[in-house]
Amino acid sequence: MINVGIIGLGSMGMTHLEAYSRLDCARVIAVADRKFADPRASLGRVGNVAGQVGEVALGALRKYTDANELLADPEVVAVDICAPTHLHREFALAAIRAGKSVLVEKPLARTAAAAREMADAACAAGVVLMPAHCMRFWRGWDWLKEVVVNGRFGVVESAAFTRIGAKPTVPFYNDGVNCGGAHLDLHIHDADFVLHLFGMPLAATSFGRLGESGAVEHTFTRYQFAGMDAFVTAEGGWTRASENRPFVMRFVVTFERATAVYHFGADPELQLYRPGREPEAVVLAPQPGLGYASEVAEFVRCVEAGRASERVTAEDGVCAIQLIEAELRSIESGQTVYL
Ligand SMILES: NC(=O)c1ccc[n+]([C@@H]2O[C@H](COP(=O)([O-])OP(=O)(O)OC[C@H]3O[C@@H](n4cnc5c(N)ncnc54)[C@H](O)[C@@H]3O)[C@@H](O)[C@H]2O)c1
Repeated sequence: MINVGIIGLGSMGMTHLEAYSRLDCARVIAVADRKFADPRASLGRVGNVAGQVGEVALGALRKYTDANELLADPEVVAVDICAPTHLHREFALAAIRAGKSVLVEKPLARTAAAAREMADAACAAGVVLMPAHCMRFWRGWDWLKEVVVNGRFGVVESAAFTRIGAKPTVPFYNDGVNCGGAHLDLHIHDADFVLHLFGMPLAATSFGRLGESGAVEHTFTRYQFAGMDAFVTAEGGWTRASENRPFVMRFVVTFERATAVYHFGADPELQLYRPGREPEAVVLAPQPGLGYASEVAEFVRCVEAGRASERVTAEDGVCAIQLIEAELRSIESGQTVYL
């Protein structure tokens, strides 16, 4: 049984807590959040996607107001960091120094340099450091990875990713310096998936719009790859926060012999179009707890086995931020940036 401690019990902390409750081989024994100092504080039960946060019992958990108290708890062997992005580095390095394995919400850190420091520290300490790039565990998206790798429909001719949702209302998201705007915070899901499918691009050409956080809150990138002609793009952005929280998460990928269209929440969610055939719904297995449950299950398997995940590594977490930073340089300079 792997004993887990979660730092940061907001929207994602609650989502991960619920995800661990589905596992037999791990249990959350402690949570740390500075808001426990205020007895009137509410616990986050929100999220972009339906089904993200379920009901979990908090009563039996050890509650710390200071993350360092959780890190000093000898019974916690694995730490899950769901605190705001700018705190990931500090908490992860402290966990690694304490000999604990760490799952860190995406982005792995606020900057690629900080992420590199964390990856190197985990490697030197021999502990698992896994960035929580949940799309690598999301149904439909794992199907896409498989058919791109096995070439079932021929080579990819184009791939377009879109992710547009209401700006979360907690103050962190309006702090461009610490959060990085939708460009880092939201669009990194698609930048990471582009890396997962095709590797590091040769070049990125990006456009962006600043929002009231002072950071880029709407972003669009075209990626170019050595030896591959595919037209690959990703758009990400926040709309103004609203009660009904629109959330669009979509890909359209054209292959030589098929087109795949995924639209989160649609029925069917993933549709395949092939010449001379009726549109075909791709049958996706139910995924209780969404990609988050599969992601924390993978983290626990890695902690048990004492090895890095084959699906997502600390290095992948570093590369995703390097790509995001290259895109930002392209937005700022108005030039294509070569990686
Ligand atoms: N994978 C995803 O789909 C996804 C979605 C949303 C957010 N995220 C990421 O998850 C992280 C958290 O985002 P969120 O939306 O849950 O934010 P949130 O504000 O809802 O939760 C953050 C929590 O951390 C706590 N906290 C702040 N400072 C702390 C400190 N010093 N010590 C202990 N606790 C502290 C806050 O009180 C809060 O409860 C961010 O890095 C964000 O980018 C990932």
